[in-house]
Amino acid sequence: MGDVTSRYLIVSNRLPITAVVENGNLELKASTGGLATALKQVFGEDNATWIGWPGETGALMRKAREQLEDGLEKAGMVPVYLAAKQVERFYEGFSNGVLWPLFHYLLDTVRSDAGRDWEAYREVNEKFAEAVVAVYKPGDRIWVQDYQLCLVPGMLRKRLPQASIGFFLHIPFPASGVFRILPWRREILQGLLGADLIGFHTFSYARQFSSCLLRILGLESNVDTVTHDGRLVRIGAFPISIDTEHFETASAHPEVTAKAEEIRHHHPGCKILVGVDRLDYTKGLKRRVLAIEHLLEKHPELAGKFKFIQAAVPSRAGVEAYKQLRKQIDELVGRVNGRFSTISWSPVQYLYRGLDGHELLGLYRAADVMLVTPLRDGMNLVAKEFVACRHDDDGVLVLSEFAGAAWEMGEAIIVNPYNEDELADAMHRALTMDEPERRFRMQRLRKRVRDWTVHEWVRQFDQALTLVTTENAAWHRT
Ligand code: ADP
Ligand code: F6P
Repeated sequence: MGDVTSRYLIVSNRLPITAVVENGNLELKASTGGLATALKQVFGEDNATWIGWPGETGALMRKAREQLEDGLEKAGMVPVYLAAKQVERFYEGFSNGVLWPLFHYLLDTVRSDAGRDWEAYREVNEKFAEAVVAVYKPGDRIWVQDYQLCLVPGMLRKRLPQASIGFFLHIPFPASGVFRILPWRREILQGLLGADLIGFHTFSYARQFSSCLLRILGLESNVDTVTHDGRLVRIGAFPISIDTEHFETASAHPEVTAKAEEIRHHHPGCKILVGVDRLDYTKGLKRRVLAIEHLLEKHPELAGKFKFIQAAVPSRAGVEAYKQLRKQIDELVGRVNGRFSTISWSPVQYLYRGLDGHELLGLYRAADVMLVTPLRDGMNLVAKEFVACRHDDDGVLVLSEFAGAAWEMGEAIIVNPYNEDELADAMHRALTMDEPERRFRMQRLRKRVRDWTVHEWVRQFDQALTLVTTENAAWHRT
């Protein structure tokens, strides 16, 4: 990764550890989500400083600040504290009430009262930019992550004109017809253009971004480059991945094997379908449970023959749409179980919590069928983690065509998650697929996650950033 003397400043809204203050005691927990999972496996403390929010409001945090800062400093992390109002308006209001649903094409969920929250978004982006400037040294490479911080590259460019700045979007970038709905579309694009390199998971997202530059700012890109404010900005596709070796090794641990056996033992005679997600309306959980109901209507002979285990870790619990989703899933699971359960069997087992490492990997190994059916997803790392854990070359992946991962994982059963009938048929096909076909597909999927890991993702992004920064420096010398 780069040359050894350069330092990386990783800037993300959430740090890879989240602080929780309970009864005055501070606990540091690993953050959940694709960004944290991917990046924390790559960046060592010696060559990287991670700047971000520790996940609690400043007021609560003050009680335990000294203890927290000591822990963060040892881990190479710099906290950016958010006040309660900023959490409400920047994080819940604008980032997760406007940009998140809009970029995932869920327009009915976009808040209509976003004006006040935009100001907070700008203000918190300034706060992050200032935190970066405070620790920046010439030669550092700045990697800004995700939709919460779209204005940071532009703010940094004003303060550090020569800095090497990369931006990576971990969620989809929508088609211009959707993006143009956003009243602050110009500001968002201009903020991003402060970077030297703007990375997306897929070519399709990169193309859609270029098309927005043309239609909204009138900027024409030449293949993967656009000229803006006297600098080159490169746009590219860098599909994120996982630390495959880590998942392969960790999932072979005897405790994981025991966990997988225990799960199977608890469901004798049943095939096991698994879902693992943050409790997020983009993940297609409601339609997944409805498809289970539909599967049992279409194939009553399957009653008692399978178990669907869904783990959903609480996420963004302060946002209204997430509160509603929690209620809806509780009701839906209750309804389906009430309708089809017998004294000795129920179709759905629902866990509203995060799984610990052994449980998660044990579940991946116990699954006959892994259901990854988001309505829209930038990449989806769960699909890759599942495959990496399958040393037995068995198990079937059912994957949404609207997940970025579908571009790389064509041997999965690819489904349209909006089509309940198709989803139920895909589940049936996965449950009844013969062993040679399962192996054929899984071996190819496994090769793909071995060949393209998060380490390649970092290397390629880093190389592309070095190249464009060098080009820009040469341009300014002439
Ligand atoms: P997102 O970034 O939207 O959360 P990804 O699928 O890319 O989606 O990443 C989710 C990450 O969070 C994965 O590393 C996955 O293992 C982890 N994760 C998701 N749900 C759970 C859960 N219920 N328990 C433990 N880890 C989870
Ligand atoms: O990958 C998308 C993402 O929003 C990350 O930016 C984020 O860290 C993760 O999902 C979890 O969301 P949050 O930080 O809001 O809990």
